[in-house]
Amino acid sequence: MSNPAPIGIFDSGYGGLTILKEIENLIPRYNFIYLGDNARTPYGTRSFETVYEYTLESVRWLFSQGCSLVILACNTASAKALRTIQQNDLPQYNNEKRVLGVIRPTAEIIGNYTSSKQIGILGTKGTVQSLSYPIEIEKFYPAIKVFQQACPLWVPLVENNEYESEGADYFIKKDIESLLNKSHDIDTILLGCTHYPLLLNKIKRYLPAGIEVISQGPIIAKSLEDYLHRHPEIDEKCSKNGGLQFFTTDSEKDFNTHSEIFYGKKVNSVHIDL
Ligand code: DGL
Repeated sequence: MSNPAPIGIFDSGYGGLTILKEIENLIPRYNFIYLGDNARTPYGTRSFETVYEYTLESVRWLFSQGCSLVILACNTASAKALRTIQQNDLPQYNNEKRVLGVIRPTAEIIGNYTSSKQIGILGTKGTVQSLSYPIEIEKFYPAIKVFQQACPLWVPLVENNEYESEGADYFIKKDIESLLNKSHDIDTILLGCTHYPLLLNKIKRYLPAGIEVISQGPIIAKSLEDYLHRHPEIDEKCSKNGGLQFFTTDSEKDFNTHSEIFYGKKVNSVHIDL
């Protein structure tokens, strides 16, 4: 058996740090390697083929670092690449490697939040067009109606540090109104993109009282903890010294500066080429 290695956490850029933060809080003993494909972000506007190609390269790199388990902490990559990677690429690793996403664990428990059985999903164009959320939620909760809204400007607003500006208010209000116009009975809204928790205060400002907003971080952290309990054969391949490493495909300096707003702490990243 190979030596225990960190759990790989992948995102198209910084967004997955909002997920890592929660995972680390819940299971701090484990080691993690974070990889942000900052040089090629955003993924949200790219085709299936491109998101698959970029995600697979990133996953392969994490495997080359010894990771047996990789979490795609990016909704767009989970929506557009996960299934193909699981079906086409993982078999060649002789059942030694696992790749998990963020959509299924969210869909699994989303039904616990809604009374009206009407849920709103906010996400990138890619995630929304893939229909991954409606398809996965239907499997667990056939009675729930899902309404989606793509918010193509939200990731650039966050990436460009404009998430607290008045310009951000304009787009957030517009997209939330569009979502709520699709149904007046939505009582739960899922932030189906790892960047959106940074916009939470503004999002709440434009929502009527009584609508609950859900960020994915705590859900993914809990589901990973459960997964490791249920799969001791994978758990034993995960190293547990509380170590953290950060890698980016773009500038280390930019990553170190900008990551703090997502992660809440300073990090020291290392550049890699894919
Ligand atoms: N972090 C990605 C997600 O959760 C969105 C960012 C991007 O478009 O690359 O969907």
